[in-house]
Amino acid sequence: MGKLNRAASIDDLRLQARRHLPRTIFEFIDGGAGGERTLRANRSDLERLTLKPRVAVNVAERRAVVELAGQAAALPLVLGPTGLAGVYWPQGEVAAARAAAAAGIPFCLSTNSVASMEEVAEGAPGGDLWFQLYFLKDEALMDALLERARNSGYRVLCLTLDLAVQGRRDRDIRNAFTIPFRPTLKTVFETAIRPAWFAGFLQSGGVRFGNFEGSLPKQGFMSIAAHIAALCDAGADWDTVARVAAKWDGPVVIKGILSPEDAERAVALGPEAIIVSNHGGRQLDHVPSAAAALPDIVAAVGGRTQVILDGGVYRGTDLIKARAMGAGACMVGRGFLWGLAAGGQAGVARAIDIYREELDIGMALLGQPDFDGIGRDALLTGPEGYPS
Ligand SMILES: Cc1cc2nc3c(=O)[nH]c(=O)nc-3n(C[C@H](O)[C@H](O)[C@H](O)COP(=O)(O)O)c2cc1C
Repeated sequence: MGKLNRAASIDDLRLQARRHLPRTIFEFIDGGAGGERTLRANRSDLERLTLKPRVAVNVAERRAVVELAGQAAALPLVLGPTGLAGVYWPQGEVAAARAAAAAGIPFCLSTNSVASMEEVAEGAPGGDLWFQLYFLKDEALMDALLERARNSGYRVLCLTLDLAVQGRRDRDIRNAFTIPFRPTLKTVFETAIRPAWFAGFLQSGGVRFGNFEGSLPKQGFMSIAAHIAALCDAGADWDTVARVAAKWDGPVVIKGILSPEDAERAVALGPEAIIVSNHGGRQLDHVPSAAAALPDIVAAVGGRTQVILDGGVYRGTDLIKARAMGAGACMVGRGFLWGLAAGGQAGVARAIDIYREELDIGMALLGQPDFDGIGRDALLTGPEGYPS
């Protein structure tokens, strides 16, 4: 696909995605909570860090294979859970899971996927599949989801803790974004000028929450915030986390940690990894960026579990910076969704290729042939670099 190969960066894929998607949907992916300060900081705090290259190092062989939640991955990268991916491209979750499987990296399916977990598992055989769970009010429904995930071959359970309620996202409010899409003059116009997207959307059967077929009451037009409020348990606490984690007899990862105190609580449950994340700036604005929160959390964890950085990772060099600050790997959301919306499975494959190539060349030119071996000394300290 010529168009995808012309994308030199994840930012280029984002522009291609913008040309493919109706504006309301593009903004649902692109946007964050409130004035989007945290969303911007996720990016700018990584950008601010400066790498310290060393030359005349033998980098003829480079190694970026890592262990992720107890299993080898070809790259230090996880495709993160993102709701409604099947809206951005027909069978979007299956497409992304297939691209991840082909690249040898994990794919984490969202609770709120369009395709059901069984469809994704069948469509991406051999992949390292993770299932992300929100805490549901309906315990029996939650148990049924866990049972189905186990039976269809999901290896890792990812518990997302930062969604007691949905964040207030200005762009979605302005766009009056609902599920199903409400036909207004604005949305009809947006869709009319995106015929390729609309054709795919129609052919794929529209929006649904595949994991909840038959178990949610039929509803009218509903904002995502209202869907979350109806479904998710704002009363979930650490006892809930411990109880639900204990129901899973495989690796558990805990997503949405932003403070050393919560990292401590999480580590006490013995997870395979914790994910330092503010949900891509989509939950509470004015909380720290993932990159800013990372060093103190790494220090608090002290190697007792793997730490994964999630938020603002759009460059191979971001993977290096995260490793230098002590993360074992990164999770990405929009980075692969832009590829998905630009070109389905091939677009996600292109996004992964971009991360891989940027990482590989970055490691070579930095004089760091082994990803796992990258440490603090790969970053400049002082005003240009890592806080000393
Ligand atoms: C469109 C979209 C939908 C998301 N849906 C979920 C979700 O269902 N569950 C979840 O744990 N995180 C969800 N997230 C957050 C991502 O898993 C991830 O934390 C975030 O995208 C990381 O930031 P990045 O986009 O800068 O990589 C979503 C993010 C986006 C952009």
